[in-house]
Amino acid sequence: MLLFVFENRADLRAKLRNLASAFVTSAAKQQQQQSALATGACNEMFGNLALSAAGYRKLAWSEDALKSAFTHIHYNETWFLDGMRARYRVWGEPEQARLEDFYQTTTVDGYLLLACADRDILDQATTVAKNALGAFCRQVHEERGQLIKRNGEEYEPFGFRDAIAKPTVITGANRTPHEARTLLFRDRLAPSNNCFGTFVVYGKLEQDVSGFWQAAGDLGTKLGWSANYAAARIIGRDENGTALVNDFSQDPQGTVCPFQAHIRKVNPQFSSAGHPIVVPLYRRGTPYQTDNTTGLLFLSMQENIGVQFGRLMRTWVNSADFPVSGTGTDSLVGRPGGVQNWDGILHDVGRHVTFRGGEFFFLPSLAFFHSLDG
Ligand code: HEM
Repeated sequence: MLLFVFENRADLRAKLRNLASAFVTSAAKQQQQQSALATGACNEMFGNLALSAAGYRKLAWSEDALKSAFTHIHYNETWFLDGMRARYRVWGEPEQARLEDFYQTTTVDGYLLLACADRDILDQATTVAKNALGAFCRQVHEERGQLIKRNGEEYEPFGFRDAIAKPTVITGANRTPHEARTLLFRDRLAPSNNCFGTFVVYGKLEQDVSGFWQAAGDLGTKLGWSANYAAARIIGRDENGTALVNDFSQDPQGTVCPFQAHIRKVNPQFSSAGHPIVVPLYRRGTPYQTDNTTGLLFLSMQENIGVQFGRLMRTWVNSADFPVSGTGTDSLVGRPGGVQNWDGILHDVGRHVTFRGGEFFFLPSLAFFHSLDG
């Protein structure tokens, strides 16, 4: 992931158009890559390019043009235009000081995301991309992710299977407007009415692996559980990905899968009144590892940042009284500083995930990039 800050120069639009032509993978090509992956290996490069509101401003769109391009018809939603700096507390962080230096001091204009199953091919493409970006950006910051795979399945750094639950977008003949509507937003700066993009939330989430397992051990000691079972209660799935409960209507009191378990907080399935509720987020976390830190490069895609990611984080993850009074916040990623209810015992497992930086982006259509003049 190459996060960049534009130089102030007149030919930015043309430079960006050329960058997109060289690196962005079209939807048609992505479908071919998916089919190839389904039947075997695919060593082709994948690339996509997104812009923050700050980036659009440097490309010389007026504030009025941006407002009409990115305001939702039914919601006066300004999360994207405001940028993440204005909303970092949504991650449950009490102080901005915990951001990494780069994110603390820099407003990012966009990112180029490159991926490939073959590390050598990816490294070569990254070098070429950095040179290309260097010609019109004053800063290029690299985040390197690497999937953790065991028996072909993906795991996150605490050791739990990841990338299991995902909302499905039904495409082609079976497409329903409802499903597409939770992901796609019309790209109003593109040359035709038939172009769509999506909003992206990016967060660098550092994980304290030994702190997490220590906390799971302490919880287990208090409740008479093994550390692994306590950890499964914190997540809502065991390390192999088996859910404690698949259908939460079968566990209305939260006795098997606690209400504060991560997967139950982010997808409770039912309101406290028993009505089905769903907030679709198309999410993907890619593990990163440096000499002394590890965590996830978290990305979620949605049609509306405030109503999807924002609502989920504010009213579910970080709300101590959702879905019932005294639940506590999400025991994996919720706001720290409270207790959770573990079978009637109030105990704080602490937070072992720290938000270290991020931004809101719009991932425009390829047609938008191709139409850039200058
Ligand atoms: C480092 C931080 C995080 C870790 C280690 C983590 C870990 C996990 C794991 C192990 C699962 C279960 C596997 C799966 O269903 O794919 C999961 C599910 C999920 N997580 Fe996270 N997660 C993190 C941050 C977040 C954040 C910030 C969000 C906020 C929106 C989030 C949203 C979700 C959602 C929506 C699911 C699927 C729930 C379901 O439908 O069952 N995660 N996460």
